[in-house]
Amino acid sequence: MPVLVDSDPTRAASLMAALPLGTQVVPGIEQLDSWMAKKTDEYVVVLGPDVELEAATILADRMSFTRPSTALVLVREKLSAEVFASAMQAGIRSVVAEADTDGLGLAVERARQTWEAINGPSTTSSANRGKVITIFSPKGGVGKTTMTVNLALALAADGKRVCVLDLDLAFGDVAITLQLIPEHTISEAVEVEEHLDFSMLETLLTHHEGSLWILAAPTQPDAKDRIPPSLVRRVIQTLRSNFDYLVIDTSPSFDDQVLQAFDETDECVLVATLDVPTVKNMKMAVETLDMLNLVRDRRHLVLNRADEEVGLSAANVESILNMPVAETMPTAVAVANATNHGRPIILAKPDHPVSKAVRALATRLAGDAVPGRPLAKGAPAAKRGFFGRKKK
Ligand SMILES: Nc1ncnc2c1ncn2[C@@H]1O[C@H](COP(=O)(O)OP(=O)(O)OP(=O)(O)O)[C@@H](O)[C@H]1O
Ligand SMILES: [Mg+2]
Repeated sequence: MPVLVDSDPTRAASLMAALPLGTQVVPGIEQLDSWMAKKTDEYVVVLGPDVELEAATILADRMSFTRPSTALVLVREKLSAEVFASAMQAGIRSVVAEADTDGLGLAVERARQTWEAINGPSTTSSANRGKVITIFSPKGGVGKTTMTVNLALALAADGKRVCVLDLDLAFGDVAITLQLIPEHTISEAVEVEEHLDFSMLETLLTHHEGSLWILAAPTQPDAKDRIPPSLVRRVIQTLRSNFDYLVIDTSPSFDDQVLQAFDETDECVLVATLDVPTVKNMKMAVETLDMLNLVRDRRHLVLNRADEEVGLSAANVESILNMPVAETMPTAVAVANATNHGRPIILAKPDHPVSKAVRALATRLAGDAVPGRPLAKGAPAAKRGFFGRKKK
């Protein structure tokens, strides 16, 4: 876990918002030394603005011999050529401005990845990180929530601890789909963002049954604007540290909160149906994800209502999106019926083809997921120029 060195508690609290949960704060270099003497797997030390530049460079010099695989991140109130030059000379690779919380988060994550590349998985990071699975579509009504709850139930079936986070913050309906009336929602976490930990967040969860919990969306649509992306990040990190799986339902748009979720996502399920507007929007969404370099190689395309005869085939969609279909689900009255009765299809009819497809998806996501597999050979090719390039 990271260690933050800073003697100013207010400043330390605001930097902590950008750092992983479990980050240790120490007030000075002396305390850092005694902390490090007890720990062998610290992957990064963050030196807050209170640590003098000279003290930081002396520490860096020393650590290059004693802890060569522990990275140092230097946080300064203001960046200057002098700061960069001194840091470089001392072998400090990352220098970030105090206000640049995204930059700090990235530097720390890079340090974790480098540490793991050298030493193998860190016991305090990945071992305690449940898998985050985000269900997304740029189009409304295609079955995102249906997929979310059924997938979560499938993942929870063998006792794994699963939490559903409803990030459709204006119109979330995970709770009602599971016939739950939540007493609390994510909005109540806003006030306590800076000090948020699992003991607080736990009180906001609603239990479904077995090992499935949900963190419900606000009850009022306008509450969405009061939920900052930084809170979403903290909530996701807290939940992932305490559940085996965190399944995130989303709104059909790239709002800031959903983009934040993508940043924390391990596996992304993209839900499409066989209609031209949906596929067109999905193509734009995939291009946006590419542009932002989000969940690359971790996307799983699911075709819902894939049996509908509407002139567009699954192979067309694969070709247009240049992505294999991971799973297809047919249209079934039983699905809508199950939703309306608050008992999702996987519970109401475990042997239904949709339930089987959801379980297959769950197995794929639970394992070392390989995003999608091509449809059977001989499937009809896409028409050229539908929404762009034909698959080569
Ligand atoms: N395979 C299916 N067969 C029949 N009905 C389905 C199927 N999948 C979803 N539905 C129904 O379609 C409706 C919309 O599904 P759902 O709420 O999951 O979509 P959504 O993408 O979450 O919508 P929104 O964007 O509004 O949140 C629901 O009534 C659901 O029961
Ligand atoms: Mg929905």
